Amino acid sequence: MIEVDGISKAFGGLQAVRDVSFTVEKGGITGLIGPNGAGKTTVFNMIAGAFAPDTGTIRLNGENITGLPTHQLFHKGLVRTFQIPHEFSRMSVRENLMLVPAKQSGERLLENWLRWWRVIREDRQILKKADEVLDFLEIGHLRNELAGNLSGGQKKLLDLGRTMMTDARAVLLDEPGAGVNRTLLGKLTEAIQRLNKEHGYTFCVIEHDMDLIARLCDPVIVMANGEILASGDIDSVRDNPDVREAYLGSGAA
Ligand SMILES: Nc1ncnc2c1ncn2[C@@H]1O[C@H](COP(=O)(O)OP(=O)(O)OP(=O)(O)O)[C@@H](O)[C@H]1O
Ligand SMILES: [Mg+2]
Repeated sequence: MIEVDGISKAFGGLQAVRDVSFTVEKGGITGLIGPNGAGKTTVFNMIAGAFAPDTGTIRLNGENITGLPTHQLFHKGLVRTFQIPHEFSRMSVRENLMLVPAKQSGERLLENWLRWWRVIREDRQILKKADEVLDFLEIGHLRNELAGNLSGGQKKLLDLGRTMMTDARAVLLDEPGAGVNRTLLGKLTEAIQRLNKEHGYTFCVIEHDMDLIARLCDPVIVMANGEILASGDIDSVRDNPDVREAYLGSGAA
């Protein structure tokens, strides 16, 4: 579904990502792990259109999407979440979700005048959808809470919820488990699994929590120092001496 071929990115003199290639298979949950500073988020930034790679190509369902901006990728069904959640803190949880859908008629003035009835109907549909998403994630009781008041873990769930408001079926998750307590983590893991199995979402997940990776991801791709070190199922990469060395060397093991 997503094919990354030989991408690189330098920031000034720092080679953050060097000649990275991998594939995210449709219908799967691919893990992307590695010590801090390995280049994982930079890879996501390039796939999701935050900036173009210096070299290499990225394809989505066979189409070259290298360098396309985020909003165009959104319309092609590719979305991402951020390592640090980007919620609108002074809006309610439900409003945060209702902001997401693209092409709302209400945003177009003329249509607003001519087809007010349609706008109202669409708004109601979006509201219904937002409530369904919140119920799916079991945070329905928080729908009227200001998003800024949520815990770190609840914000991560809200972030996942935002991807569910779209028709996107390729979702990049950057550390969905970071700062999430055990109970919420179980909920989050289950939500990701159900979206994958029951709703056909394809995921690529960056995560430091190895339990979460082990439960969710196959294959797992390991990066260190901007390069791919290993890939395969979780047991094979765990036993890989280079991977152990990279984690020990970074002090993150
Ligand atoms: N916008 C930027 N400008 C300059 N340097 C950057 C930028 N983004 C990332 N870097 C650097 O590139 C390297 C890779 O960073 P990146 O955020 O991709 O790592 P990561 O694998 O996501 O790490 P972590 O697990 O800590 O999130 C790091 O050395 C980082 O400091
Ligand atoms: Mg990162």
